[in-house]
Amino acid sequence: MIPPSPPALPFLGHLNQFRRDPLGLIVRSVRDHGDLVKFRLGPHKVYLINHPDAIVHVLKKNASNYDKDTRSTHFIRDICGEALLTTNSEEWKRRRLHFQPAFHRAAITGFSTIMEEEAAALVGRWSPHSQVEASTAFMATTFRIVARALFGAHLSEKIVTSLEEPVTLVLTQTFARLGSLTGRKSRAFRRAMHQINQTVDEIISARTAPPETPDLLELIRTGTSSPGEVRNEAISFLLAGHETTANALTWLFAYLAHHPGEQSRCAGDSEALDRALQETLRLSPPIWIIERHALGADEIAGCTIPRNASVVACPYTIHRHPGFWENPDSFQPDRFLSPTPKAYLPFGLGPRVCIGKEFALMEAHLIASALLSNFQFTPVNAAFPVPDPAITLRVRGSMPLRIQARTQTHS
Ligand code: HEM
Repeated sequence: MIPPSPPALPFLGHLNQFRRDPLGLIVRSVRDHGDLVKFRLGPHKVYLINHPDAIVHVLKKNASNYDKDTRSTHFIRDICGEALLTTNSEEWKRRRLHFQPAFHRAAITGFSTIMEEEAAALVGRWSPHSQVEASTAFMATTFRIVARALFGAHLSEKIVTSLEEPVTLVLTQTFARLGSLTGRKSRAFRRAMHQINQTVDEIISARTAPPETPDLLELIRTGTSSPGEVRNEAISFLLAGHETTANALTWLFAYLAHHPGEQSRCAGDSEALDRALQETLRLSPPIWIIERHALGADEIAGCTIPRNASVVACPYTIHRHPGFWENPDSFQPDRFLSPTPKAYLPFGLGPRVCIGKEFALMEAHLIASALLSNFQFTPVNAAFPVPDPAITLRVRGSMPLRIQARTQTHS
């Protein structure tokens, strides 16, 4: 059987629609055509799977038939080369085994001091009766946290700021390249990469002895052989670890600002805050699309998936699948008081599940709880923010919030 496909142009296929509105294309396609849809982006065949059984099959049960030798990974390699995030097979396994212990729940509590310090610094920068731009502030804070966890607690302000802008530029341009036929790199991209490589090299070579408190860079140095590999791995953690958590926080505060009752509940109840975070990751998953490359032909839901096809899963649409979620579009954190449906994968699934999951959840929780115990947030714009799908799911434009001192919290 051949999967259904939305109307397409002869040569470009769905490329223009993807470039204009990738999320809209996917949302409409699963609504109109069901849980398996075929696309064509120029010469590239893409199979979208939107049923949890098919996703478990690809990402977990038959994961050995699917690797990350995809077009998106190919572009990400232009930023960080071979690293845990981008590598495959035995080399990936070796790196994963080496890094895994540093990301276990017990191990990451060592990073909580950095997270608490940065959360307190953010509280200190914001004053009551003012207006803040939440998405920019969260981007800077999560960047500082992952940079300090990687490179040491005393990384200078100057270095952090000099990395922030080029890292944002290369991430933005990487997604834009997916929607172009040639995928050419811009001059600005090359310049930004040069700056990132130079700064990270300087940080690495400035280190002459292991730090008093071990950081991720020390672990990377013991698991990789050449300076270039150390740099690649360091950059990949910077990329994977900051924009995702920043977007999770931005969306969380968007939902809470628009749901004042939930907001005051979360201010006094840590479990309610965890549920609000889970619900945020359901409705606005920072990694909204996951891609794999089929090493061999396979069969999914009675359809043949050819060798070398690209297979994608979209957490954004799976998390709103009406067959698994009641009132899928509404923000209802208490749905997580019941067992979580299988159509939920904000951190992915199977062997390549996010290694930074516990790190991110702890970080988001600590920052949100510090902010909520000091401030009350109201939206500046009456309309709820619109998603802007790039490598991560951002809010379109900015996310201004009005803040006041919090006067009382529920216990
Ligand atoms: C809310 C925040 C985060 C979300 C939603 C998220 C989501 C994800 C997802 C869905 C994947 C799997 C992608 C795939 O299967 O292709 C992934 C992989 C990964 N994440 Fe995260 N992530 C977050 C935070 C972090 C943090 C804080 C770090 C590091 C400090 C991190 C490091 C990584 C790495 C290195 C991988 C690749 C793992 C591998 O392939 O073995 N992530 N993440």
